Amino acid sequence: MARIISVVNQKGGTGKTTSVVNISAYLARMGYKTLILDMDPQASATLYLGVDPSSVEFSMYDVLLKEAISFNDIILSTGIEKLHLAPAHVSLAKTDINLADNANKQYRLKEKLADIKAKYDYILIDCPPSLSLLPINALTCSSEVIIPLQPKYLSLEGLKQLKSSLDRIKSELNPLLKILGILFTMVDMRPKMTKHGIDLVRKHFGNEVFDSIIRICSKFNEAPIAGQSIFDYNHNSKGAEDYKRVTEEVINKKRIFYRRGISRSIKVPKRIKRLFNAT
Ligand SMILES: Nc1ncnc2c1ncn2[C@@H]1O[C@H](COP(=O)(O)OP(=O)(O)OP(=O)(O)O)[C@@H](O)[C@H]1O
Ligand SMILES: [Mg+2]
Repeated sequence: MARIISVVNQKGGTGKTTSVVNISAYLARMGYKTLILDMDPQASATLYLGVDPSSVEFSMYDVLLKEAISFNDIILSTGIEKLHLAPAHVSLAKTDINLADNANKQYRLKEKLADIKAKYDYILIDCPPSLSLLPINALTCSSEVIIPLQPKYLSLEGLKQLKSSLDRIKSELNPLLKILGILFTMVDMRPKMTKHGIDLVRKHFGNEVFDSIIRICSKFNEAPIAGQSIFDYNHNSKGAEDYKRVTEEVINKKRIFYRRGISRSIKVPKRIKRLFNAT
């Protein structure tokens, strides 16, 4: 039975799609049958994998809204062996309005996935930057969540809100939901705030933070244009090294690297400290 992992953050541009595509690509390379569900009307994962969303006959929208359409009608192969894609379409933006009167609106994805989840080892869900019905459907059927996060002040403020939304979904809709890891992305260690942010999140969330971090790497802007994962585009890049490590943590479900101590030498601004003391 597949491990179903949602990749969420209501903040835009935190590295959700980049993480979904590259973690999935590495899982497939390791021989795991992997499926990406693109739940974002922007269709970034679909585009990244070289599929034109306007050319697909049926998409995630049809699976969620139409009884007669199943996953078998929409799943596509990708250029990567063992990696499949359930594509998005811009019509997904109408999901909230069109599901509004449906009694099972938070469980549509869970119901539809029941037929196919035994066929895969991993299902990764790329969520849009919102807390609409699309990510709620994703979180209701997931066992685990990855939260890509940039170590910046405003992103940390958003993490507090996201954590309380996840707690609510866990208590009201899916008691099995667990945080697999907060994943620091686009990390540039030069500004002081980066270290403050990483240290504080590690201190506050402990084991819920991946040991691996994803460093800033220009190849991530180029790989989607080539329609390639970072491993195919440049397997010697630091981006490839980082996503390989984080995927190993995903597979092993445990932290595999030495956890550096919280630095005491840096004076953490009160505003940031307060953010976490309040949760
Ligand atoms: N480690 C990295 N280094 C440099 N650029 C990166 C890195 N990770 C992602 N990017 C770039 O940052 C941008 C945002 O990344 P991505 O699309 O993965 O974010 P997202 O959270 O999915 O965005 P959205 O919320 O709009 O769905 C993209 O242009 C991507 O190529
Ligand atoms: Mg995205």
